[in-house]
Amino acid sequence: MILVAGGTGRLGADVVAALLAEGSPVRVLTRDARRAAPLRRLGVQVAIGDVREPGTLGAAVAGVRTVVSTVHGFARRDGGTPRTVDRDGNGALVEAAAHAGAEVVLLSVLGAAPDHPLALFRMKAAAEEHLRARLPRSTILRCAAFAELHLEMLAKTASRGGAPVVLGRGDNPVNMVSVPDVVSAVLAAVRGEFPGETLDVGGPEDLTLVQLADAVRRGLADPDRNVRHVPRSVLRAVATLERLPRLPVGQIAALALAMDCLPMTYDALHHPDAVEWRGSARVGATRRG
Ligand SMILES: NC(=O)c1ccc[n+]([C@@H]2O[C@H](COP(=O)([O-])OP(=O)(O)OC[C@H]3O[C@@H](n4cnc5c(N)ncnc54)[C@H](OP(=O)(O)O)[C@@H]3O)[C@@H](O)[C@H]2O)c1
Repeated sequence: MILVAGGTGRLGADVVAALLAEGSPVRVLTRDARRAAPLRRLGVQVAIGDVREPGTLGAAVAGVRTVVSTVHGFARRDGGTPRTVDRDGNGALVEAAAHAGAEVVLLSVLGAAPDHPLALFRMKAAAEEHLRARLPRSTILRCAAFAELHLEMLAKTASRGGAPVVLGRGDNPVNMVSVPDVVSAVLAAVRGEFPGETLDVGGPEDLTLVQLADAVRRGLADPDRNVRHVPRSVLRAVATLERLPRLPVGQIAALALAMDCLPMTYDALHHPDAVEWRGSARVGATRRG
C-alpha cells in the first residue's frame, strides 16, 4: 500500500492516477472527505487526517510500504504555514511512517536551505534533515517550479484584465519542470530506485516569467495587448505581510520577489552527477551530496 499525503492536490492527484495505472494499491491522506470522493470511486482508500494533528496519522500509515508526502503549507487560507505543515507536519508524518515500518518520498523544493530568505525553503530544509536522520533510506525530491502552475496563474490574470500580469520585472531566468516529469521521478522513487538519495528534479529550460506570459498572451483573443507588471516596490510592501496566517498575498509577494531577484537557474543536462533522463528526456534528476 502506498499512502499519498496530499493526493487531492495538483501533483498528488497525478501521482495517485499513475500509481493506480500501474496497479499499485493507493491510500490518500486528506483533510476533506468530499475532495477525495472521486478517488474513492477509482478504488483509492481514503484516510481523513491532518499532518498538523499527529494523532490522525496512525490509521493513515497502517500497513503502508511507502509514504509520498506532497503536502505543503505555502500561501494557504486554511491556517497552514510552512512551519506547521512543511516542517512540523512532515516531521509528524515521518515519525508515523517510521513507527509503521514505511519509507518516505518527500517532495521538497530546489534550493531548500536552512538560511534561505523564504520560510518555505527553510522549512523544507528542516523536513529534509529530519527525514535523513530518522529514515536514512528514504528519498527526497527537490523540485523546480511547476510550469503548469505559473502558466495557469498568468492565464488567470489575463482572463481578468485582458493581458497577463507578471509579478516583478519577470526577466530573471527560473528553472521550470512539468508535473508529468515530476510524477515520473516520484514513481521511480516509490519503486525504490533512489534509496537514501536527495535528488534535484529540474526541467530542460530556464525561462523568464515574461517568456511564459508571452506564450499565454499569444493564445489570447487579443494577443497585441502588452503584458502588465506589478513593480518590485509594490511586491516589497506586500511581502511585509508574509508572516500573517490565512493571508496568502504576503507569501506570494515574497516568493515573487525571490523569483525576480535570486539565482533560480538549473542545468541538469550538464551536471556531473545527473543520473536520470526520463520520459521525453525533459527532466534531469540529479544526485546531491
Ligand atoms: N507547485 C510548485 O511549483 C512546486 C515546486 C516545487 C515543489 N513543490 C512541492 O510539490 C508538492 C505538491 O505541490 P502542489 O502544487 O501539487 O500542491 P497543491 O496542489 O497545493 O496540494 C497540496 C496538498 O497538500 C494537502 N495538505 C495541505 N495542508 C495539509 C495538512 N495540514 N494536512 C494534510 N494535507 C494537507 C492538501 O490536501 P487537502 O486539502 O485535501 O487536505 C493538498 O492536496 C508540495 O510538497 C510542494 O511543496 C511544488
